[in-house]
Amino acid sequence: MIKADTKVHSLYGSPVAHSLSPVIFNTTFQQLSLNRAYLPFEVSRDNLKQAVEAARTLGFDGFNVTMPHKTGIVEMMDRLDKTAEKIGAVNTVTTTKSGLVGYNTDGEGAIGALRSYGFEPHNKRILVLGAGGAAQALVNRLSSENNNIRILNRILDKARQVADKATGTGRISYGELDKSSLEKGMEDVDLLVNATPIRTSTLISQFKIPADKVKDIGWVFDLAYDQPDKPLSVGSGTISPLEMLVHQAALSYEIWLSETAPFDLMRSSLVDYIGKDWR
Ligand SMILES: NC(=O)c1ccc[n+]([C@@H]2O[C@H](COP(=O)([O-])OP(=O)(O)OC[C@H]3O[C@@H](n4cnc5c(N)ncnc54)[C@H](OP(=O)(O)O)[C@@H]3O)[C@@H](O)[C@H]2O)c1
Repeated sequence: MIKADTKVHSLYGSPVAHSLSPVIFNTTFQQLSLNRAYLPFEVSRDNLKQAVEAARTLGFDGFNVTMPHKTGIVEMMDRLDKTAEKIGAVNTVTTTKSGLVGYNTDGEGAIGALRSYGFEPHNKRILVLGAGGAAQALVNRLSSENNNIRILNRILDKARQVADKATGTGRISYGELDKSSLEKGMEDVDLLVNATPIRTSTLISQFKIPADKVKDIGWVFDLAYDQPDKPLSVGSGTISPLEMLVHQAALSYEIWLSETAPFDLMRSSLVDYIGKDWR
């Protein structure tokens, strides 16, 4: 039950109506009898600054931001942790006595998801589609595992920036997202990470990629979960974006509550809500 002293967490994004984070957090808080609530708010780019100030004024006990705010919020933070500063994107904010501190749990959440499927992201060939906040977090984390990464994006300059900001030892190249670069980029990759809001199968049909070019992809990892894709009948398999969602939510929980997250409970909250396990 929400009471006068309930600690409030929030999610700012646009759109947020599809978000499953409130399910994960509110079910977990209830199951553990924690006096906390997690509320999603539709916040446009123009209103982000006011929303951040509202979180400060109303004393929210930490909040998440999602598309399209992960980079825009950086300058509104009083402090950034090392990872968020390196990649210039924030998805988790905590409130401290000295102000708002921005973190980014996307990269680590993605690694957790990959490993839970038995995929060890080390010394692999990886194709990343998109160059937004999520791609930046993933490329940075994956580059620290000596992977060979190619980034393709509609706006070439953004792909270059993602490559330039990554600090790991991996080899990174980039190019414009078009039919020929996608076709070539998919050749013999161990993992395709799709960090655009468009499903991989839709991109493949939009660019008219022949089926035989898709068959050598190892794993496919679509990050967007608002329009679940049917597994492409190629490669070793499909990593569910929901697995990453739970992993990065567990990391937010740990930042806010300073204790180990009840990962199994958070995961089963979502599995129960959806009605089936995705793995
Ligand atoms: N599962 C999870 O836990 C999780 C975590 C984080 C993010 N996500 C999902 O990952 C996706 C990306 O998030 P983000 O924060 O990185 O978003 P973002 O910063 O807005 O970046 C979006 C990227 O997608 C590209 N894009 C957009 N529309 C496209 C289209 N029609 N065709 C090709 N490329 C297109 C953009 O290209 P341009 O630069 O050319 O505009 C940009 O590179 C979202 O769907 C988000 O919900 C999921």
